[in-house]
Amino acid sequence: MKVTVDEDRCRGHGMCLTLCPEVFQMTDDGYAIADPAEVPGGLEESAKDAIANCPEQAILEIS
Ligand code: F3S
Repeated sequence: MKVTVDEDRCRGHGMCLTLCPEVFQMTDDGYAIADPAEVPGGLEESAKDAIANCPEQAILEIS
């Protein structure tokens, strides 16, 4: 499973960092990035929670 954050949609709400801090990081600009883009094994559910709870629908599953 791979995820990416659409930088045009992200408004820095931060739910993704709370729900899956192993994958989502906040940049100095206050927006999220997915690093690593490949979700480590066992964290898929957390990553899906982050996708479902982003108010801007900014997180996309890319594979
Ligand atoms: Fe951005 Fe959504 Fe996370 S707005 S900071 S990707 S919860």
